Amino acid sequence: MNIIEALKWRYAAKRMTGEKITDEQMETIIEAIRLAPSAYGLQPYTVIVTENKELLKEIYGKACPQIVVLQCSHLLIFKVKKRLDEDYMEGFLRELKRSRNTTDEYIESYRSKIHHVLLNPTVNTFNWAVHQTYIALGYATFAAAQLGIDATPIEGFNAGALNRLLSLNVAEEEAVVMLTLGYRNEKEDRLALQPKVRKPLNLLIERI
Ligand SMILES: Cc1cc2nc3c(=O)[nH]c(=O)nc-3n(C[C@H](O)[C@H](O)[C@H](O)COP(=O)(O)O)c2cc1C
Repeated sequence: MNIIEALKWRYAAKRMTGEKITDEQMETIIEAIRLAPSAYGLQPYTVIVTENKELLKEIYGKACPQIVVLQCSHLLIFKVKKRLDEDYMEGFLRELKRSRNTTDEYIESYRSKIHHVLLNPTVNTFNWAVHQTYIALGYATFAAAQLGIDATPIEGFNAGALNRLLSLNVAEEEAVVMLTLGYRNEKEDRLALQPKVRKPLNLLIERI
């Protein structure tokens, strides 16, 4: 499928068949997440990948009663780091220096740019991190479509219950969005054959 075909083919499936996607496909989707851009390259998120049926049942029962959670092949849970501490930023800068073999001056100026944003009291670091996370979600969704795999972004869950279920330390991180991966059940899903509802171009794009 070319890009537009894949995007027209995909939709947020409400019913899946339970059929498994392969490890190789899963690795491709994970790699797409890894390669997603983020501000300063800081990737202020981590992603839980699970196909554990018991956990999926618990998530369905306690945090997200959307049936697709039970019917997916894999569930991705995108967690956001609520604050990027000195260790995190320095670790990133070390990796930047190592992988690009940059000068200390460059790293110093990069450090002050990062600090300018992330240590700025007027910046809501959590919101900033959430924005980055949704880009990764988009990459995963798009990569899945290219592979002919269905993917349903899910924001409609009880975040507190999910954080508790995953034993997350909410001072440090929180689950913000999920993505089910699998295959649509066309017979059971009333949305499977529905046309897309999107703005016409003239209401979406302003050319100047
Ligand atoms: C961030 C985000 C959260 C969403 N949350 C849910 C959700 O909780 N449950 C659901 O069934 N669909 C959810 N959706 C799917 C949207 O409803 C769907 O993408 C939108 O209606 C456009 O339709 P399409 O993706 O099928 O083309 C979500 C989509 C996004 C991008």
